[in-house]
Amino acid sequence: LQPTTMETTVRRHRRIIMLPFPFQGHINPMLQLANLLYSKGFSITILHTNFNAPRISNYPHFTFKSILDNDPEKRRFELAEFSKDFIHNQDGGDALLHELGLLVASGLDENERVSCLITDSYWHFAQTVADRLNLPRLVLRTMGLFCTTVYSSIPLLDARGYFTLDDSHLEERVAEFPLLKVKDIKKIGIESGEVGYAVLIRHMVKQTKAASGVIWNSFKELEEPMLERISRDFPGPHFLIPFPKYYTASSSSLLEQDRTIFPWLDQQPAKSVVYVSFGSLSQVDEKQFLEIGHGLVNSKQRFLWVVRDGFVEDLTWFESLPVGFPGERGRVAQWAPQQEVLAHEATGAFWTHSGWNSTIESVCEGVPMICSAFRGDQPLDARYMSDVSGVAVYLENGLQRDEIARVIRRILVDEEGKEIRESAKLLKQKSDLSVMKGGSSDDSVESLVDYISSL
Ligand code: UDX
Repeated sequence: LQPTTMETTVRRHRRIIMLPFPFQGHINPMLQLANLLYSKGFSITILHTNFNAPRISNYPHFTFKSILDNDPEKRRFELAEFSKDFIHNQDGGDALLHELGLLVASGLDENERVSCLITDSYWHFAQTVADRLNLPRLVLRTMGLFCTTVYSSIPLLDARGYFTLDDSHLEERVAEFPLLKVKDIKKIGIESGEVGYAVLIRHMVKQTKAASGVIWNSFKELEEPMLERISRDFPGPHFLIPFPKYYTASSSSLLEQDRTIFPWLDQQPAKSVVYVSFGSLSQVDEKQFLEIGHGLVNSKQRFLWVVRDGFVEDLTWFESLPVGFPGERGRVAQWAPQQEVLAHEATGAFWTHSGWNSTIESVCEGVPMICSAFRGDQPLDARYMSDVSGVAVYLENGLQRDEIARVIRRILVDEEGKEIRESAKLLKQKSDLSVMKGGSSDDSVESLVDYISSL
């Protein structure tokens, strides 16, 4: 990854300003990308909100500046306030324009210039700001290509009535996306009409089309069937880079990661443990929680389960688990160094909520998945991983202990799961090859660096 000294010297005078969306699943890929671009010689400024502020001390090589919610007169540190003011209102655009304008005009030393702005796709108003400042804006899209093609068709899917179909249609295929069932579309969590999440997605799609390019946390071999459609829908250049291959997400973790799990993991036989984690936002109710706990025990397999604070609604979770839980075969942590766990030789499977970062981290480590899906892109990722990539079982009918136990055995040990385990291994090999010199991801990194240098 190391550029030559001359390249570095030239590029250090080029600054990239980056604005992540303030949630774990968005902060991680933005900071992985920032590290990658820094390693190629660019100087990096990270604009961030005080709400879910990144761990600045882990990045002494970047400049940080807080923006948008730093007005002491207004309390905007809560999610509801934050999203009202900045995600759904014009406030965000005005504040960003003001602060970015100052930064571009006076915040740099005389030898430096700003090459571009890279923002999360959900900061849609940043495009208008960038246009007014005459600054190229690249978008980091933290979800997959398949999800994004479906998201860009949401007005069409709504017009055709999918969001209001009753439950008798759930198992039917979606004519516009034959890979999907109606229940996958409904699970995205969009209401019919111009409300809530649908509005945000519409703005996101429109302003991603207007951007100077899109960077994806993915690789060509993983989502090749989607490339043509994506290039048609979003006309700018596309750069597919599997970030976990370059940097782990650990240094941007907002929660403390429990490393005491490693001595336990080190003692488990190779590929014997199912790692269970549902990301930073998903929640279950008490009934679902118990089904998961009983399913894990009934599988009679080893497990490492991340139970995040707040994962179970209205419950002191440990009170309701079976006596003696987790027993000798299991281990529970509140938050884990996920990528290291996936890379550990004892890990044989990942039961995930199918968030895109978790998905790509698992793919890059060759770990077969059990996919649950809660909302948003997750049902789409789950369907793609099971039906296109063949590296997962999609637990698509909710959480039932017998089914859970059966699927865990299938993916970890049963003959029936062999094909999935083999496909996961093969896909990892493809991701390994893609980052080698001349591979598709390596080409993408190089063309991104050239492209930004040319701006
Ligand atoms: C959300 C959405 O679910 C996801 O689909 C979207 O693409 C981004 O926003 P989240 O639900 O948190 O993110 O899931 P995911 O995208 O998988 O990101 C979770 C991140 O937290 C991963 O990078 C993972 O490595 C990390 N993590 C998770 C930990 O560091 N420790 C843990 O114990 C669990």
